[in-house]
Amino acid sequence: MLRLLSRSQSREIQPVFGACVDYALMQDGRPFNENATELEFDELPAGTPRSAKRIFAIEPTPGQPVGVVEGLCGYPSLKIWYLGLMLVVPRSRSLGIGSSALQELEDYVGPPEKVGAAAANTDSGSQVPC
Ligand SMILES: CC(C)(COP(=O)(O)OP(=O)(O)OC[C@H]1O[C@@H](n2cnc3c(N)ncnc32)[C@H](O)[C@@H]1OP(=O)(O)O)[C@@H](O)C(=O)NCCC(=O)NCCS
Repeated sequence: MLRLLSRSQSREIQPVFGACVDYALMQDGRPFNENATELEFDELPAGTPRSAKRIFAIEPTPGQPVGVVEGLCGYPSLKIWYLGLMLVVPRSRSLGIGSSALQELEDYVGPPEKVGAAAANTDSGSQVPC
């Protein structure tokens, strides 16, 4: 159900942002910017590499995104994934899609052993286990 997006694919989920105007109004007091998806890729805590940002389309049916979930790998510390923005369009809410997406993201991140093993590679200089 999750499809990892590159920045160049970000337009594909812009309609999700457009449909989630309720959340945008609650959060920012205005609809999402028309470049919201690109901005989401670019928004990073200071010192965090771009490669740490993972944005997924939520697609119960391949090619038909109904949501988006964003993770930040290795933030705020090595063994942690920070869950950022998560949206499911209003017409698709309360169907279990958000829960399934979250479960799939946890499976993607992998068990603690995997994260721990990656963290052990910090000798190579990387501060991010991914
Ligand atoms: C939060 C969200 C992604 C959940 O997606 P979903 O597909 O509806 O999730 P599920 O169907 O798996 O689970 C729904 C349950 O999650 C819980 N839930 C959803 N939104 C919630 C909220 N704002 N506060 C507390 N619980 C919430 C409720 O228990 C809900 O059950 P209900 O539908 O019987 O009330 C979706 O509601 C959404 O996009 N909301 C607007 C954006 C938002 O608030 N994102 C989170 C912060 S970034």
